[in-house]
Amino acid sequence: MTTDTSHTPPRQIVLVGLSGVGKTTIGRALAERLGWPLLDTDDMVLEREHKTAAELIVERGEPEFRRIEEEIVALAALRTPAVIATGGGAILSSRNRRALGEHGFICYLDATPTEIARRLPAEGGPVRPLIDGDEVEVRLTELDAVRRPFYNHADLWVPVMGGPAEMEAAISRILAAWATEAAELVSRPRRIERLGSDVPARGPAAVVDTTEERYPIWVAPGELKRLPDRLQQIGLEGRRVFLITDSNVMEKHGQAVAAVLDGGGISGASYVIPAGEESKTQRMADELYRWLAAERAERRDVILALGGGVVCDLSGYVAATYLRGMAVVQLPTSVLAMNDAAIGGKVAIDLPEGKNLVGAFHQPVAVLSDVDTLGTLPRRSYIEGFAEVIKHALILDPGLLELLEAHARQIAGQEADPDLLAAIIARSSRLKALVVSSDPLERGLRAILNYGHTIGHAIESTTGYTEYMHGEAVSVGMMGAARIAAELGMIDQSVVDRQADLLRTFGLPLVAPGINTTAVLDAMTRDKKVERGRMRFVLLHGVGRAVVRGDVPEDLVVRTVQALARG
Ligand SMILES: NC(=O)c1ccc[n+]([C@@H]2O[C@H](COP(=O)([O-])OP(=O)(O)OC[C@H]3O[C@@H](n4cnc5c(N)ncnc54)[C@H](O)[C@@H]3O)[C@@H](O)[C@H]2O)c1
Ligand SMILES: [Zn+2]
Repeated sequence: MTTDTSHTPPRQIVLVGLSGVGKTTIGRALAERLGWPLLDTDDMVLEREHKTAAELIVERGEPEFRRIEEEIVALAALRTPAVIATGGGAILSSRNRRALGEHGFICYLDATPTEIARRLPAEGGPVRPLIDGDEVEVRLTELDAVRRPFYNHADLWVPVMGGPAEMEAAISRILAAWATEAAELVSRPRRIERLGSDVPARGPAAVVDTTEERYPIWVAPGELKRLPDRLQQIGLEGRRVFLITDSNVMEKHGQAVAAVLDGGGISGASYVIPAGEESKTQRMADELYRWLAAERAERRDVILALGGGVVCDLSGYVAATYLRGMAVVQLPTSVLAMNDAAIGGKVAIDLPEGKNLVGAFHQPVAVLSDVDTLGTLPRRSYIEGFAEVIKHALILDPGLLELLEAHARQIAGQEADPDLLAAIIARSSRLKALVVSSDPLERGLRAILNYGHTIGHAIESTTGYTEYMHGEAVSVGMMGAARIAAELGMIDQSVVDRQADLLRTFGLPLVAPGINTTAVLDAMTRDKKVERGRMRFVLLHGVGRAVVRGDVPEDLVVRTVQALARG
């Protein structure tokens, strides 16, 4: 009798990722639920050599430790069933990757180095090889940069940002993927060969994974030229595409995209809406529905949204609703759209009563950010988009903050090297992807993305959305939040100054002279972010660390807004 094993889930789960990301905790939980043993390769090294990985590295050097680790990994890889938690660097060895890939379903646990550093016990906890000492976060950031391409070889990407709830979500995510798709993933052609290859995996810049949906974000110069390949990669070849763009973007990039689609033999139609927020209406959505109906668009067809946040939001809204949901590929062309609007699945239109009042959560099937398109973006739009990039750095990623500081003038001058620009947008997109993946429906962690937005939104709305662009208002709002955090003793004045310097170098405003403080304070209490009458502020308690606070004294809020208004 033969058994068909092709659809049976693999009997081994391998966890890879940076030291401290949660491999042991998650491994233990998985092992318990599956009733399998947990093999921790660092523990196995300790058992055999009577020395920890850290001690071995110090005493015998890293190459010797890696050799021992390879022997241990080879032994562990033979055990089924088993959950295997690997040492952070094990994945660097192609021999290890091959061995682990033989029976294992390889899961990459991902969190930012700052988040991991925050979690690591200050003292008395286990000594972790290669990352002990004061500069934990700096070291983790370096390791992350070197290892990420190899971690990207994994079969599954698992975000683990946040607290116990997100850890629990990560465990469920792994179990669900293991039960449903692991068999298919590990039997992909040439997988072992790819695992063994010394060429790092060329994965997308980031992935969003909300358990229900998973999609790649590609960020690079010339990305739009790869559109036909990308459609094929995500399994959409042969579908008709419906391109939605606005008049400005059509003029600058429409022809090129049409030529790429033609060249790829992709058929479809396109629709150009007038540029500007005024197009984000139900009337415009109706116009698009009727166009799709006239073109006989089917559910299996794909909407391509080429443009800034307005096109992303409107097209996403149409895609969410037409035929009860069509696939949308976001092709953002503004800094704001690349970092924010295109990622995360929030789609909406405006009402006369307020912005984004009608909408849905509808994740795209892919995001392609071609940084070459940013060259034609009006200067003010370009700059305001960086307010959100700086925001991501401030709340989550000190390394990104340093990168921005080091190249601020060049980037702000719209003359940055395209690869540098792509690296920065990729890193910022990855942060948004991590947060969104951990909290797709905005129940918790995602709230930290509102840094600078409590005051920022109020400034925008009380000035009728004409005086301040969103990013400019957020820039002022971040300065307000930083002042509040400093007054509460959460950060030093030096952090406030650092934030101010960077925003200033980008030409973003730090104050909003002349705003009507009463109106702003009033708008703040009416904002969506108010919970049970208390204003909620996202505040820094260090660079790369943000918390949501509902207990900021009212008089401090009033004083802060007054100070911003004085200029
Ligand atoms: N869904 C979300 O999560 C989310 C997040 C943030 C913002 N938004 C929404 O995004 C919108 C703002 O986005 P935006 O700033 O990109 O606005 P936008 O789409 O209006 O673009 C700004 C201007 O730049 C033009 N433009 C865009 N790309 C260009 C390019 N490459 N070359 C030349 N011109 C170009 C546009 O035609 C427009 O005139 C708002 O409606 C906001 O509500 C949504
Ligand atoms: Zn914003």
